[in-house]
Amino acid sequence: MILLPRHIAIIMDGNGRWAKMRNLPRIFGHRQGVKTVKKIVQAAGSLGIEVLTLYAFSSENWKRPESEIKGLLALLSKFISKELKELNEKGIKLRILGDLSKFPPKTISEVSNACKTTSKNKGLQLNIALNYGARQELISAFTQMQQKGIKNPSEAVVSSFLYTKNQPDPDLVIRTSGQLRLSNFLLWQIAYAEIHITPKFWPEFTEEDLKFAIEEFKKRERRFGGLEDESK
Ligand code: IPE
Ligand code: IPE
Ligand code: MG
Repeated sequence: MILLPRHIAIIMDGNGRWAKMRNLPRIFGHRQGVKTVKKIVQAAGSLGIEVLTLYAFSSENWKRPESEIKGLLALLSKFISKELKELNEKGIKLRILGDLSKFPPKTISEVSNACKTTSKNKGLQLNIALNYGARQELISAFTQMQQKGIKNPSEAVVSSFLYTKNQPDPDLVIRTSGQLRLSNFLLWQIAYAEIHITPKFWPEFTEEDLKFAIEEFKKRERRFGGLEDESK
């Protein structure tokens, strides 16, 4: 029996294009995208997924206009203030992947408080990647190892210096909006992940689409560099 993916990581892409197709400002796409986040978090929890990682803001997204960045930060604050109670009640545990120090103090304290409040929960592990870049994450890991005098790190040691410390690597990466690239997302952790690309924009991605991606995942044969399993 092929098991469910333990960890699903999603590149939530296409908010801007979703809005543009409707002649709306980009921020409307982000707002609609938050609604998808709520639905997919619930769905992942009820499907029994252990870890869900959502790529919300990359270290390269600072290149966007200030107004869009401000809009995204406001949506993040609103999401946390409105949803924290429910996330907590559902046993969801929040972790941030990324360097929060670049954000305004208000955002840092809201986000840190949400992580602290949910830290003892035992349900779905929800990672939100914010100001996240895989290359920056690896440089930070190497720097920390150097400072600790670690000379020949094993893979497990490197993993223990990443934001995803103590979590299983993603088994499945989903990218919405049809782009065929990884955009600096979890480059170390997804070495052997299966990739599912859907043409749907993030605001129109549904629980059914998530289930479909999981069904497709179950049909894949993961080899991890070995040969086909002949016992099947
Ligand atoms: C993804 O949607 C959300 C973020 C990167 C914050 P985009 O904003 O990238 O939407 P497109 O790709 O321009 O359509
Ligand atoms: C990736 O989407 C980052 C997030 C989903 C947060 P982008 O829209 O920033 O990626 P590119 O620029 O198309 O590679
Ligand atoms: Mg995009």
